[in-house]
Amino acid sequence: MAKPSSVFVCTSCGAQARQFFGKCASCGSWNTLVEQKAAPAADSRRRRPVAEPSAGLVAGMATAAGQPRRSEPIHAVGERPLQRLSSGYGELDRVLGGGLVPGSLVLVGGDPGIGKSTLLLQSARSMAGRASVLYVSAEESAQQVKLRWRRLAQVAAGDADAGGEPAAGADFQLLSETDLELVLQELEALRPAVAIIDSIQALHDAELGSAPGSVSQVRECAAALARIAKRQDTALLLVGHVTKEGALAGPKVLEHLVDAVLTFEGDRFASHRLLRAVKNRFGATHELGVFEMRDRGLAEVTNPSELFLGSDEPSAGTATIVACEGTRPLVVELQALVSTTSYASPRRSATGIAANRLHQILAVLEKHLGLPLSRFDCYLAVAGGLEVEEPAADLGVAAAVVASYRDLTLPPGTVLVGELGLGGQLRPVGQLELRLQEAARLGFTRAVVPKGSGLAKAAAGLGLQLLEAGNVAEALVAALGVNPADDRA
Ligand code: TYD
Ligand code: MG
Repeated sequence: MAKPSSVFVCTSCGAQARQFFGKCASCGSWNTLVEQKAAPAADSRRRRPVAEPSAGLVAGMATAAGQPRRSEPIHAVGERPLQRLSSGYGELDRVLGGGLVPGSLVLVGGDPGIGKSTLLLQSARSMAGRASVLYVSAEESAQQVKLRWRRLAQVAAGDADAGGEPAAGADFQLLSETDLELVLQELEALRPAVAIIDSIQALHDAELGSAPGSVSQVRECAAALARIAKRQDTALLLVGHVTKEGALAGPKVLEHLVDAVLTFEGDRFASHRLLRAVKNRFGATHELGVFEMRDRGLAEVTNPSELFLGSDEPSAGTATIVACEGTRPLVVELQALVSTTSYASPRRSATGIAANRLHQILAVLEKHLGLPLSRFDCYLAVAGGLEVEEPAADLGVAAAVVASYRDLTLPPGTVLVGELGLGGQLRPVGQLELRLQEAARLGFTRAVVPKGSGLAKAAAGLGLQLLEAGNVAEALVAALGVNPADDRA
């Protein structure tokens, strides 16, 4: 039977099929199969004549030449302390789990124009004084990178010179190239401590027939880079673009290959940018780093709660919560607008929290407080463009909605934390003490929390009045000072 000359590759999971299907048989996504010329068999490839570690994807896996690897008792396995390299930016280090690990592979994803190149060039600039750095720009010319370098130079932390030249002793090499083969050669020749590839989608392996950015190209390029990086203990930072649907191109393919996946996100219309770890083999996930895009690069925001707090003037329909991103508490303002509907089915719109969550909270309020919310349009927004995923925000959402419905203002200095059950009960949330500390630090004086926290003493020490409640009705009475279910309220 003749070999098929093309295959169909799923752009979501990378699975291959011999014919076109509307639905990928492997991951179940619809309309993700694209036709590609079949890749030549891997063993016929001209590259990689070097004695490669056969499964060398884990740092330190290479054995002495030719020795077959044997198993060993776990207590005999030597431990290498992780020598982390600081990126020069505390916010980035936090998300990485304390700095860059030699030989690790980090994928930094985000929308075009969000600031990935800026972030990496800035940290490369900072690291260059302490380690050798190779910056491969596959998208921009060397001149463009140099221009950006000059622009950043004037604020880079610890850089005395304002002329845009690397600080004395800096080891920063720039390569503007899209051909994978040349990039690999340069990596092997320079053996840098850190290499940055901007971006993985723009690299191109001439031996594969497919276009740059296609799943097979991304996968092959990343795998070839990973092999070299692991072998010579180079920390590799890969920039990855996000597709229209918000996924990294070939995400599954890259995600299992790399040690950490960071996403850089933010509102195009706001200047702050959020960096999160979605996966991290060397640290915790859900850590959050906050930056602000200025005209001379990204500045760290070390006190992000101030960013997500609205105006000082309390107004009807706002409530303040303390969300937790990883180990980082954030005080965030929620705003609700409840108005009589002029539609057959009322409108509900949520920005920054899941729409389903809003629907559920509205149903709980309708059922347990007897508020006729199904006759009202409800809009809810999280200030500052933050996405709050945790259910600990429920009580805050409920309070904002009820306050808007009743045209009430919450007493100033109040924060609310708690998850709402379907029965109207208030469920405990994690890291409550951390949240209270952050609220107290920012000058809040009252906190409404689920019953049984055992933190009354700690709160008093922080100067916070702790109001504990068992269900949503009690919590709202405590927060608002009036009973919202009472029509005379
Ligand atoms: P960039 O890092 O090129 O984004 P990405 O690599 O994710 O595509 O950032 C591009 C945007 O950032 C661009 O719109 C200009 C803006 N910017 C600043 O506002 N200040 C700066 O100092 C720099 C370098 C860029
Ligand atoms: Mg870029």
